[in-house]
Amino acid sequence: MVTTPSKRSGRLTATRYPGRMKIAVTGSTGHVGGTVVRRLISAGGDHDIVGLTRQVAPYEDVDALRSALDGVDTLVFVSSDGEAAKVVLHHQNVLRAAVEAKVGHVVLLSGLDVDLGSPFCYAYTNGWSEQVLRASGLDFTIARAGLFAEFFGGLVRQSEQDGVVRLPAGRVSLVHRDDVAECLAVLALGEPTNTHHDLTGPEALDIATVVERAGFAYAEATEAQFAAALTLSGEEPWWVYAYSSMFAAIRQNRWQAVSGEVARLLNRPAVPFGGTR
Ligand SMILES: NC(=O)c1ccc[n+]([C@@H]2O[C@H](COP(=O)([O-])OP(=O)(O)OC[C@H]3O[C@@H](n4cnc5c(N)ncnc54)[C@H](OP(=O)(O)O)[C@@H]3O)[C@@H](O)[C@H]2O)c1
Repeated sequence: MVTTPSKRSGRLTATRYPGRMKIAVTGSTGHVGGTVVRRLISAGGDHDIVGLTRQVAPYEDVDALRSALDGVDTLVFVSSDGEAAKVVLHHQNVLRAAVEAKVGHVVLLSGLDVDLGSPFCYAYTNGWSEQVLRASGLDFTIARAGLFAEFFGGLVRQSEQDGVVRLPAGRVSLVHRDDVAECLAVLALGEPTNTHHDLTGPEALDIATVVERAGFAYAEATEAQFAAALTLSGEEPWWVYAYSSMFAAIRQNRWQAVSGEVARLLNRPAVPFGGTR
């Protein structure tokens, strides 16, 4: 999908080049990538915005990725999803293609928990990808997102039985996916910062409060009880493992940090869980 830049004025402004940039966005058929593309278009400026799709640039195909990145100034790399081993391969391919295509600036979507020693499977994929990007010689900006409010809200609803949601305890600084996408667009229009930015919600909520805001009663469960209930509800083994390992990381306080970075980048407060703009 190649879109023509809009001339409409928007809140975002280009600060990297006074002239035209070619900006590519992976995962552009998805929620985050699609919103980034729309925000970049509505920002105006004389840029080429290229939404990369699975058809044009599958994460499995380095040659196709390299061709798709030819002439790209800035790549917004919305991370892959699914089994961690595949995610690692996908990320390796995208970053290799970015190096070979001499992309000027990679804006990587990562996560708040990037400790390779974390129990969370995606802490490893994100931490490893950040290391590869930092060692690549490419200029970069890393967006470490908190847990998405939409994702966590979905898990809450999935875990509901007879009005009660049984989840392990902990605190989370849930961030809205659109806030993350808007920040990625702002970062893509700016200079590479060659550091990371923590994109979190405005508050660290305990999970009981999250569940209550979603309209249900909360009951604490152990990670093993949570995993068993998910399995019995028919969830795939990979996601049972992934979500359980996430709660193990939450218990270690790895997803509760609150930063003001969303507000700083967007010039407005981050949307709270259950709130609207
Ligand atoms: N922080 C969090 O709480 C959290 C939660 C969930 C996910 N995430 C991360 O955030 C990312 C974006 O989230 P989202 O909600 O926008 O996800 P989404 O709506 O599922 O979009 C995923 C995008 O990735 C593309 N994709 C998947 N496999 C691909 C492949 N092999 N080659 C090329 N493209 C491929 C999809 O293309 P198709 O449309 O063709 O499938 C889609 O455009 C996820 O991929 C994941 O890494 C973070």
